[in-house]
Amino acid sequence: MHKCVTVVIGTKWGDEGKGKIASAEAKDAKLVIRATGGNNAGHTVVYNGKKLALHLVPGGIVYPQTTCIIGPGTVVDPLVLLDEIATLESYGITDIKSRLKISGRAHVIFPYHKHLDELHERLKEKPVGTTKRGIGTCYADKDNRIGIRMYDLLLPQEKLEKKIAEATKLHYEAFRAHDMEKNIMDVSTLAKAYHTCGEDFKPFICDVDPIIANAIEYNQKIVVEGAQAFRLDIDHGDYPMVTSSNPVTAGTLCGAGLPPQAVKEVIGVCKAYDSRVGNGPFPTEQESSLYMGMENANSPISPLVGDIIRELGHEYGTTTCRPRRCGWMDAVILRSAKYTCGIDYLCINHLDTLGEIGLKVGKVMVCTDYIYQGRVIGLFPDDIELTGEIPYPCYHIISGGWKIDKSCKTYNELPVKAKEFIRIVEKASGIPVKYIGIGPSNEDLIIRNNV
Ligand code: IMP
Repeated sequence: MHKCVTVVIGTKWGDEGKGKIASAEAKDAKLVIRATGGNNAGHTVVYNGKKLALHLVPGGIVYPQTTCIIGPGTVVDPLVLLDEIATLESYGITDIKSRLKISGRAHVIFPYHKHLDELHERLKEKPVGTTKRGIGTCYADKDNRIGIRMYDLLLPQEKLEKKIAEATKLHYEAFRAHDMEKNIMDVSTLAKAYHTCGEDFKPFICDVDPIIANAIEYNQKIVVEGAQAFRLDIDHGDYPMVTSSNPVTAGTLCGAGLPPQAVKEVIGVCKAYDSRVGNGPFPTEQESSLYMGMENANSPISPLVGDIIRELGHEYGTTTCRPRRCGWMDAVILRSAKYTCGIDYLCINHLDTLGEIGLKVGKVMVCTDYIYQGRVIGLFPDDIELTGEIPYPCYHIISGGWKIDKSCKTYNELPVKAKEFIRIVEKASGIPVKYIGIGPSNEDLIIRNNV
């Protein structure tokens, strides 16, 4: 079998800047595939000099030779997707109907999934901090075999209505029990609206397997554009503070319908510092005004390190605009990701930002090991809930920071301390750093071909 698949995945908690490297890889790809999650993800792409935020359509759509696939492992909010398609058309991507393919097996997010997501979060003692997009509740319906798939939107309206009636029986009971009657939408109205929506999706919904099989057969490049990330994986992340799909490499292959033998390389993406939205363990997190009341934010006297990282890195969610929790680079997680996700190369973004952070804070830190349960350990432990202990980071410290000149195009031209940082991360993680992001635009990427 041809090895023609490049997988791009997040190594931490999402928001690593996967879009930039996925875009660089998609330039000469035939297929670009989104395989897991839904519009909880978000990335910004640049087309004709204009920025646009995408949540479902793979960013590879900006390259005219690509066919982009929303795979069977995803969950799709049809209204959001129609909006995205209309925006892309208005930006000049007029051939989207022939280049975007949506698996008929992808599951549909309905308004009741979003209300249920809200209800679950409200009832929890420790909420996950979900994006409230109905992602987990849609996957739960899929697992309970009451999910509605994109194919179902093409059924005669009465058949769709029957399916929605069956799916909502228990959910509507829950709404009644929790004073959420206003969220109970009439089933036939829902069926009519989503059946009509199905008409708009006719050019897009199909069986994506033959397209994928053909690309493998002819050794055409396939890029899997990962969403979410390793530590958000429902099986391998910080359960229960995770998303409801499997964004690790194997999960994305499953969600796309790709065989593991076809994988050529896996690129793991991270930032030079770390961030997280939502709740859950974050060993290298730095103190921040998020926990101290906003009166402390941007304090002119001594800003907290977490705030400095957030402000210099513009760490606010693309999807929900929430301020992100911020901290130093955790290379222990990268070492775990190396094995769980089979990462061949790292892409480290925001090396320029980390240099500025270092200049402001007076140092840059890299977590190389943890102290946990009285021992030094080198992989992320999986019993944090049981022990109630967050691993204590052991740091390598680099004093000061650096500035990266806009003209810098190669690894050798990077400031000495920036190269020291890369070397420490490579040593601690065991993964070669092949791609380095040194600025906001897609072109601000150093590629090391000799690693
Ligand atoms: P859900 O995926 O909306 O159920 O949210 C579950 C957790 O995953 C929350 O902590 C979210 O903030 C997080 N999450 C989901 N998708 C992303 C993403 O694309 N980037 C960063 N965090 C995400």
